[in-house]
Amino acid sequence: MAGRTKKGRVLVLCALPYTNAVPHVGNIVGSHLPADIFARYCRLKGLETLFVGATDENGTPTEVAALELGISPKKLTDTLYRVHRDIYSWFEISYDNFSRTSTATHHRTTQEFFREIYRRGYVSEGEMRLPYCVNDKIFLPDRYVEGTCPVCGFQFARGDQCERCGTLLDPTQLIDPRCKVDGSVPVFRDTKQLFLELGKVQDRLERWIGSKRAWRSQVTSLALGWIKEGLKKRSITRDLRWGVPVPLKGYLDKVFYVWFDAPIGYLSSTKEWAESRGRPNAWKRFWLDKDARIYNFLGKDNIPFHTIFWPGMLFAHGGINLPYDVVGLQFCNYEGDKISKSRNWGIFCENVPQVGLDPDIWRYYLISIIPETRDTEFKWEDFKSKVNNELVANIGNFIHRTTTFAWNNFGGEVSIRKRGEEGKELVRQVQVVASETGKLLDEVRFRDAMSKILAIADLGNEYFQRRQPWKLIKEDRDECERVIHDCLSVCEGIGILLQPFLPRSSDRILGMLGSRDRSLSEIGKVRARIKLGAKPEIPFRKLEDSEIERAKALATKSRPVSDYFTK
Ligand code: 2FM
Ligand code: ZN
Repeated sequence: MAGRTKKGRVLVLCALPYTNAVPHVGNIVGSHLPADIFARYCRLKGLETLFVGATDENGTPTEVAALELGISPKKLTDTLYRVHRDIYSWFEISYDNFSRTSTATHHRTTQEFFREIYRRGYVSEGEMRLPYCVNDKIFLPDRYVEGTCPVCGFQFARGDQCERCGTLLDPTQLIDPRCKVDGSVPVFRDTKQLFLELGKVQDRLERWIGSKRAWRSQVTSLALGWIKEGLKKRSITRDLRWGVPVPLKGYLDKVFYVWFDAPIGYLSSTKEWAESRGRPNAWKRFWLDKDARIYNFLGKDNIPFHTIFWPGMLFAHGGINLPYDVVGLQFCNYEGDKISKSRNWGIFCENVPQVGLDPDIWRYYLISIIPETRDTEFKWEDFKSKVNNELVANIGNFIHRTTTFAWNNFGGEVSIRKRGEEGKELVRQVQVVASETGKLLDEVRFRDAMSKILAIADLGNEYFQRRQPWKLIKEDRDECERVIHDCLSVCEGIGILLQPFLPRSSDRILGMLGSRDRSLSEIGKVRARIKLGAKPEIPFRKLEDSEIERAKALATKSRPVSDYFTK
């Protein structure tokens, strides 16, 4: 398969989730799931692939969440790290390493990174007016100050960024600022801080972004828009206790701004992966080797940080690979409205495992609502109809009718000397569609890629219907065996292509087909003898209304974070 990921090695990164909340379905479809499909696809292609992540535990959001809950940041992050890790693992998100930004490796990596950009002259000292809550007696994280956006007038803009128009903000720019914790009006106090001189890398950033032909247009145009406005220096330190300490005299009582250390978490998680494999230098293969391609998956609110701030840090540091693609995804809503934990509106992942449905059933529907180019919506009606009409009635039906026919009429074993003309044509068509699937995945277009697999099952179903093996078996047994062999080859192709999307089902289907070699290049190759590995079972079962009702009742209940800390 031709495509952008053909050569070299691939590092897949997913935006690091904060440990102040439990993931909801929008977090899964908006970054972890697409990143996982892409990583699995790269592995399937035989590329040297690494997929790492971590929880974003430092600084601002954690300190305030812990304050609200009356517990220590450590207690909060220790618990929520496990909650996050378990949820991603339930959804079969195949992280090679899922770490935390509170580890010693991360602290060390952040401090080393800082020392280097400081040494190279990209850090300046200055004063900053920061919001201080006199009630809570802390400097407020940018995100915890809310007010009216000076650019678009949105009344609930956050102190670091306006969610409506995307403008990067400083809390001082907000009109009518208020503390998100207790609603009081913060006072602004001058404090000494360190700044990243983004202006010094502006030209390089502009050239770099301009050279990214394959990026989604919405990502490139957002990024170039900010550059056009002119990049200002941005503070990288905060007066908080919880975070990575700043290793510079005069600043030793401060920590790094969470958006400074968080992206360095990508690097630290890779280092930890390398250390855990007993190959401490292996991280360099992905971060220093020019052949490596780094794909970042993230929600649209994270685009400025991944196209400006983090690459700006990387230019300042020098020598470390920049992102190859910044896959900025849109948002996923729930039944007509934004997902909101406080309004209890959405699918909250902590309860999803109790529903009792296979993770692949969720994955199948969630893939269809990955917000690739525009906002999408989770709807229960769609969940049921997509699973029943596509996965069960199309893919499942084809695999089931083929395998049961082979089992019942040929004892689960079919052999051919060579393919017939019609079979050759079928397989040729399947190979064409399979290669289109690969091209779409190279372009990180998951929904279209998944629909190509449905198209392959359509080809198979049409062929089965037209060749009528149930009649042929009585008239020409050899020809019938050839037809079933053709259909089994198509099933195998589907099983292989499903690997990145529905990993468990793919394993089950390929196991049932007795397939050993499961690489993309095997699709359509003639196997003289196909011997089923097990008695066929229904690959996907129809969802009943009662199951949807149960899922709805369980998965839409959000559990307050405080629940995790009360016995
Ligand atoms: O918006 C967020 O949830 C941030 N925690 C994302 C951080 S991404 C990265 F750079 F680590
Ligand atoms: Zn705005």
